[in-house]
Amino acid sequence: MILSDLSWSIRGTLGRKLLALAQQYDDVVDLTLGDPDIPTPDGICEAARNCIREHRTRYTASAGLPQLREAIATYESGKADIDIHPENVAVTVGATEAIHLAFRMLLNPGDEVVIIGPSWAQCLNNVLLCGAKPVLADKFTEGFLPDVDYLRTLINDRTKIIVVNSPNNPTGTVYPLELLRGIANLAREKGLYVFSDEVYSTLVYDRQYYSISKLYPAENLVLFNSFSKAFCMTGWRIGYVIGEPHFIKRLVKMQENVAVCVSTISQWAALEAVSHADIYTASPRDIFRARRDTLASSLEGAPGIKYSIPDATFYLFADISATGMDSRSFCFSLLEKEHVALTPGLSFGDSFDGYVRLAFTLEVPMILEGARRIRHFLENL
Ligand SMILES: Cc1ncc(COP(=O)(O)O)c(C=O)c1O
Repeated sequence: MILSDLSWSIRGTLGRKLLALAQQYDDVVDLTLGDPDIPTPDGICEAARNCIREHRTRYTASAGLPQLREAIATYESGKADIDIHPENVAVTVGATEAIHLAFRMLLNPGDEVVIIGPSWAQCLNNVLLCGAKPVLADKFTEGFLPDVDYLRTLINDRTKIIVVNSPNNPTGTVYPLELLRGIANLAREKGLYVFSDEVYSTLVYDRQYYSISKLYPAENLVLFNSFSKAFCMTGWRIGYVIGEPHFIKRLVKMQENVAVCVSTISQWAALEAVSHADIYTASPRDIFRARRDTLASSLEGAPGIKYSIPDATFYLFADISATGMDSRSFCFSLLEKEHVALTPGLSFGDSFDGYVRLAFTLEVPMILEGARRIRHFLENL
């Protein structure tokens, strides 16, 4: 079978390779996955059970249930203090499908997309799947904050989109308002679309969260969000995209051909979730904050590793360059010697090979055990 060039443009993720290797041990502490171990809240599950019981199991409109689009519009309008209507919303198979479809909507082969890194691999891959070129912004000031003048040097006549992911996976960085304003001004000056990936926006701990959506003209802004992380619903595969009505209408035409619609059961569950978002998102946030503190304090003072405490998400991105190892050898060696799995920084861009990502998506005793083993590994290098 001769596969297309596009199919070859996608690299397998290192994290998955590592996990396959981890299968051979039965005591692995797995800190790789961006997948909360916390069960989906019962009220949300009950909405799904009711949906099945009442046989609401047929296709929905491709854009999503009208009630759900309405509830998402209300929720997002309130969050960012902007005007969002149901026609601005399409419900998708996670934010991943939303991002894929949105790139498809705007990119022609040869176009370029500036992605402020480090970046979740699927974002780069989805640009590649359009035959376009991802350009990773990989230089920073302190705390993984991008410099606007540096971003300017990455933009040329072929650049169409700039992708902002705040809070960021993998660093947990939340961009301050002034930085978002700087990015918005630059994008406006260069006539770019801004893609704002906000899937971690409810998991912000000690600081104020701002969305760039308030600072950018709505007709050139596309916002992505998801039920996965905020409501512990990764397996329900539901997220959404927000954009101007004309854009959303065309995107839904694509959706009709790709997925038809999102699972009806997941949509009814999501309606319950978003209608009581403050209640459902508070507990995961508290749990992850406590885990973050546990992880950060239990690694404190360990040799060869440097990190700052993440302001958001459930990831800690640690600099391991002082060990003299690259991220791949570090992670494979740690797995082999201590049975702890981490994600190599290389997965988030070639320039992040001096880092590893620790996901605190496990309970506190496992986090403590993982940290103990990592410390042991570092002390015996
Ligand atoms: C930054 C970022 N955006 C989007 C997603 C996609 O999430 P989902 O497709 O589950 O909604 C993820 C998942 O890990 C992510 O880390």
